[in-house]
Amino acid sequence: MNYTMNKENLGTNKVSWLNYYDKIEVLSAEDEIYEGLRAEKKFISPKYFYNELGSELFEQITHLKEYYPSRTEKKLLAEVAPLLSIDFNGINIMELGSGDSSKITILLEHLSSETLASIHYYPMDISFSAIEKAVKQIEADFTLKAITAIVADFITQLKFVPKIKNRLFCFFGSTIGNLNVQERNLFLQELALIMEPGDYLLIGMDNVKNKSVLEAAYNDSMGITADFNKNILSVCNKIVGTHFNTEDFDHYAFYNEDEARIEMHLRANKDINTHIKESEETLFIRKGNTIHTENSHKFSLKHIESMASTANLQIKQIFQDEKKWFSLVLFTK
Ligand code: AVJ
Repeated sequence: MNYTMNKENLGTNKVSWLNYYDKIEVLSAEDEIYEGLRAEKKFISPKYFYNELGSELFEQITHLKEYYPSRTEKKLLAEVAPLLSIDFNGINIMELGSGDSSKITILLEHLSSETLASIHYYPMDISFSAIEKAVKQIEADFTLKAITAIVADFITQLKFVPKIKNRLFCFFGSTIGNLNVQERNLFLQELALIMEPGDYLLIGMDNVKNKSVLEAAYNDSMGITADFNKNILSVCNKIVGTHFNTEDFDHYAFYNEDEARIEMHLRANKDINTHIKESEETLFIRKGNTIHTENSHKFSLKHIESMASTANLQIKQIFQDEKKWFSLVLFTK
C-alpha cells in the first residue's frame, strides 16, 4: 500500500489532508500477526481482512440476503436523519472509520444546501485509498464548507482529532462490535475525554437477536463470508510469509450467547505445519484447532446504557428499526 499524499487529483482546493500513518505507535502488522499466530489460542485481528480482495468481498457481503446489518442501518439512518436533535449548521462532522461514504451520504442528503455549505467534514480512516475514494464521492455529491481527510487509526490515534468546537462524531457500521468489552470501554472513555460539552456522538450498533438470524448472517448460502474469512490467510501469507492454503481451513462462525457475539474462526481440516518469514520457528496447527479471526458483538439496551455510564456520556436519543435489529444511538457529553 502506498500512503503518500497526492492532493492534485482530488479536485477542489477545499480538500486538505492530514496524514498520521507514520506516527502509529502500535506493533507493526508483521509483529502483530506473528504474536497472534504464536499464541496458544491463535488469532488474527479482523482489521487484516481488508486488503483489496477483502474489501471487495465485504462489499459483496453487504448485499447478501442473509446479511441484514448494512441495509438495516442505512434504512434506519435515512428514517431518523430528520429526527436527530442536532443543529447541523456550522457543525464539524468527524467520521471515525469512514472507509465507505455511503452512511454519511445518507445523513447529508436530508440537509439543505445552505446547511451543507456550512459543514466541515473530517473523514478519518487508516486506509489512505479508502478515504481517498470516499472524499471523491462526497466532493462529487455535495458542496460543503471544507473536507479535511485524516489518515490515522481512530482506535489508537484519537489525539490527532482536531480540537475544535461543535463536533458530531460518527461511528457507523457496528465496527464498535469488533472490540471486546475492555477495548470498547477504553475507546469510549478516550473518546469522551476528547469530547467537549456540546459535542455529539452517533454510533451504529447491531442488536442482540434470534440466534438463527445472527448465524445465518455469518454463514451465507453463497459462501461469500467463508471466502472473506479465508482471505485473511492470504493477507497473512503476504505479511508474515506463512504458506497457509485456504483449502486446509474451514469457515466456522457461531453465536456465543454468553459473550453476546458472533465469533468467526478458521478451523484446520488437517494438521498444518508452516513457518514464519526469516525464522526457523515452525508453526503447528492441529487438525480441528482454530485461528480466531473476528468477534462481532451484538448490543442490547443494557450494553448501551453501560457504555454511556462507563464513558460518562448521556444518551440523547436511541433509534431502532421496527424489528429492533439495529440501533443508532446519539450520545452527548
Ligand atoms: C464490518 C465488523 C461490522 O461484524 O458484521 C461481516 C464484518 N464479518 N461478515 C460484522 C463482517 C463477517 C462486519 N463489520
